[in-house]
Amino acid sequence: MTAATAATTPSASRAVPGRVEARPGEGGPLLKVDDLVVRFATNDATVYAVNGVSFELQPGETLGLVGESGCGKSVTSLALTRLLPRPAGRIERGTVMFDGRDLLRLTDPELREVRGEEISMVFQDPLTSLNPVLNIGTQLTEGMLVHEGITRAEAADRAAELLSMVGIPDGRKRLKNYPHQLSGGMRQRVMIAMALALKPRLLIADEPTTALDVTIQAQVLEVIRQLTQQSGTAVLIITHDLGVVADLTQRIAVMYAGFIVETATTGEIFAHPRHPYTVGLLNSISRIDVDTPSELHPIEGAPPEQTREPVGCPFAPRCAWRLPVCWKVMPPLTPDASGAPAGGIDPRILPVVASGPAATHLLACHNPATAEEAEAGMPLRPGFVPAPPPSGDRGATIALAESEGAPLPDESVAPAADGDAAPTNGRPPRGPATSIEGAS
Ligand SMILES: Nc1ncnc2c1ncn2[C@@H]1O[C@H](COP(=O)(O)OP(=O)(O)OP(=O)(O)O)[C@@H](O)[C@H]1O
Ligand code: SF4
Ligand SMILES: [Mg+2]
Repeated sequence: MTAATAATTPSASRAVPGRVEARPGEGGPLLKVDDLVVRFATNDATVYAVNGVSFELQPGETLGLVGESGCGKSVTSLALTRLLPRPAGRIERGTVMFDGRDLLRLTDPELREVRGEEISMVFQDPLTSLNPVLNIGTQLTEGMLVHEGITRAEAADRAAELLSMVGIPDGRKRLKNYPHQLSGGMRQRVMIAMALALKPRLLIADEPTTALDVTIQAQVLEVIRQLTQQSGTAVLIITHDLGVVADLTQRIAVMYAGFIVETATTGEIFAHPRHPYTVGLLNSISRIDVDTPSELHPIEGAPPEQTREPVGCPFAPRCAWRLPVCWKVMPPLTPDASGAPAGGIDPRILPVVASGPAATHLLACHNPATAEEAEAGMPLRPGFVPAPPPSGDRGATIALAESEGAPLPDESVAPAADGDAAPTNGRPPRGPATSIEGAS
């Protein structure tokens, strides 16, 4: 786990019907994802992997997509460039506008051109992403030779330089190596060097530093930062570790069970988290941006398997703040109205800035944490207990049992009566601990 520091800049968004049209930040977005829905059809079930994800990214901006294992980060990133495993993976709905073109509607040759020249990806598994029968030099230089019209010698110089930038010494010698001759961490760095080789307009990096030790991790993140500064590359970085994205990103989008549940500038997420899941994530990492770091608390319980159509808030079985409505209705992503004047205003009518340094803090929650509660990591309202599943709602009872690691309720047993399932200590229901550290 990496120590987290709060950055001091920008956030993302999604459209909500009936709300004032979202405005991009300065300059307009390079990437605009709207209402992306992805399903997997498996032999046993449908997996509801991504459930209406929307966000924007401006040139030169870095957005961190964060969440526990299985929450849909990789599937979202693969869907953007139509690289979902076929035939199981299916984009059901949505648009992915990249520089004015909808990537989901380009022809295959058009899309290949965009992927080769304008969008680079670092995949989560570098071994399966590198070609085992080509040496590193060939794989690193082929794009440059095709797209940049440089000589082989120039391409080799550049490739060796890129390897040294990502912390691989003796770059010239390494160009002759095949992927199996490199360690996992080196293969990951080769993937990053390949992704940077063409100075893409958009870099999508899925857990780019997981296999690296802390020093190399910092070096690689620095290379990515330089790329955004020098070439104006926009970066979507995916990680389960909020610490990794704290320094690198301007904005963060927190994902849970295929939904973006909170998004804001990185500084705002660290300083004023409001969604109980974000609060849980922050309480599970060590913080160096707060005066008195508190004890670490992994989020208890486990994320849902996503094999049932989402009904209500998917975090409800693990949430200490849940209300009765949470079991039934998934709240829309709307502006945080906590700074609104007393008496309140309907957050659904607040204007939204979708990207850039002035991006609006958005969250999807019926009962967000107050500042004091976020710090304490639990609801502080006297007498408050999380709402038990509604009587007769077998689905919710099963979800709660699954999240607690308890045996599933027997068909013959009556569903939990009000109060039965409610923890009374104000903390999330107990279950198998899910540490963010251990996720992924
Ligand atoms: N090929 C597949 N077939 C069926 N389900 C899949 C497939 N790939 C992913 N899923 C499911 O889609 C959901 C989202 O998976 P995804 O890989 O995006 O998670 P993630 O957030 O990237 O997790 P991790 O941090 O472990 O990489 C999960 O429920 C996962 O089981
Ligand atoms: S309060 Fe309700 S809507 Fe908010 S995270 Fe908890 S269960 Fe979900
Ligand atoms: Mg993943």
